[in-house]
Parts: sequence; C-alpha cells; structure tokens
Amino acid sequence: MQPTPHNLVDQVIIQSNQLIQKPSQYTLIGKGRSAFVFLDEGNGCAIKIFFEEFEHLAKQEGDIYKRLKGCPYFPNVYEVGPNYLVMDYIEGMTFYQCLQKGIPITDEMVEKVEEALSFARQQGLNPSDIHLQNLLYTKDGTVKVIDVVRFTQDKVCHQWDDLREAHQRIYQRKYFIFKRIPKPLIDTVAFLYKKIIIPFRSLRLSK
Ligand SMILES: Nc1ncnc2c1ncn2[C@@H]1O[C@H](COP(=O)(O)OP(=O)(O)OP(=O)(O)O)[C@@H](O)[C@H]1O
Ligand SMILES: [Mg+2]
Repeated sequence: MQPTPHNLVDQVIIQSNQLIQKPSQYTLIGKGRSAFVFLDEGNGCAIKIFFEEFEHLAKQEGDIYKRLKGCPYFPNVYEVGPNYLVMDYIEGMTFYQCLQKGIPITDEMVEKVEEALSFARQQGLNPSDIHLQNLLYTKDGTVKVIDVVRFTQDKVCHQWDDLREAHQRIYQRKYFIFKRIPKPLIDTVAFLYKKIIIPFRSLRLSK
C-alpha cells in the first residue's frame, strides 16, 4: 500500500459537518455522525476524516483498532493522523443496505458478528454502538465490524443483543415476508427503538 500523501487529506474541506471540497481521487463512500469516509482511488484504502469537533476520536479509534489487530473481522489500520484514519476499504454493503436490497442477513452472518465481538471482549474491550451501518457484509461473503470508537466506553450497550434478538425472533420467522425493507421503514423502526417505543429488549428478556 502506498502511504497517503498528507496533502490529499488536507484538501478535504468540511464545514459544519458538510463536505465542501475533496480531491477527485477521493470517492465519498459514507457519512456518519462524526466523520466522512472516502475511498482513495490511488491506493484502494478507506480514509475516515472526522468532523472538527470529533477530531480527537481519530487517535482513540486508531488505538482501539491496534488492540483488534489480527482479527479478520476488523479492518487493518495503516495510518492514524490528527483527524483521520487510513484503513482497509471493505468492498460490500452494510447490513442496513442488505435490508434495503433484500440481501438475506443469515444466521451465519450473525454468528460472525458474535465471533468478532467476543474477540473484542477477550482484548478487554466493551463492544458498543453495534448498529446496522457499522456491520458490513463483504463481497467475499464474510462480515466486518467497523466504527469501534465506542469500544472503550464503560456503559453497557444492548444494541447488538437487541438486534440479534429481533433477527431471530422476527426477521427469521416464516411470517416475516418483508425481506426487502424500504429505507423510511428501517429509519422509523430505528427511531422508535431509540425512543424505547419499540421494545426489542423485551423480546430478549421475555425468553
Ligand atoms: N473501511 C470502510 N470500508 C467501506 N466502507 C466504510 C468503511 N468505513 C466506513 N465505511 C462507510 O462509511 C459509513 C460511516 O463510517 P463510520 O461508521 O466509521 O462513521 P461514524 O461517523 O463513526 O458513524 P456513526 O454515525 O455510526 O458514529 C459506514 O456506515 C460505512 O457505510
Ligand atoms: Mg458508524
């Protein structure tokens, strides 16, 4: 892999969490609550560039990826800058996109996420913020977990347990015919879950 020339990262201008300018070599592949992510067409790597108020997370997330090194379920990180990370570009789609496109989320995919998270726990981490956009189904048919920045938080995060339960108790049931789910519906369910109006947790606790 070629090292990323710093001047290219410097050519990315983000203002008020909006992308104002980027070099043509960077293709925008994602945006989250704290960063834009680009594919660097020059070296095939993904570059995560944090918004100004979240710049400190670059080092934090880089340090966590170091602890996860060697596990095939996490991307390798090649460089940690003051406001960016350079890592493996994962070709595939997020679990969120799988739902939208009707690509089945299988028990095997769920099991692979479990393996990734248990590896993280073995490294003394607390896997957190595991949501559909942080799980990728790769074109080789495996799974990768990204966006590990909250893995050092103390607070217990139930998101993955709730998602896994909803997968088993709703999505995998024969009566669940909506294998392709429109974006507004996924977003509404996610919103209602966050507001604790849809209690996926009670599925888990009612076992
Ligand atoms: N290494 C990668 N390879 C391919 N796509 C990626 C990669 N990293 C991130 N993405 C895409 O960019 C999106 C945003 O990245 P990421 O989740 O790291 O940002 P964030 O701001 O930390 O997100 P969140 O809103 O979950 O806190 C992801 O949902 C995914 O679609
Ligand atoms: Mg994310």
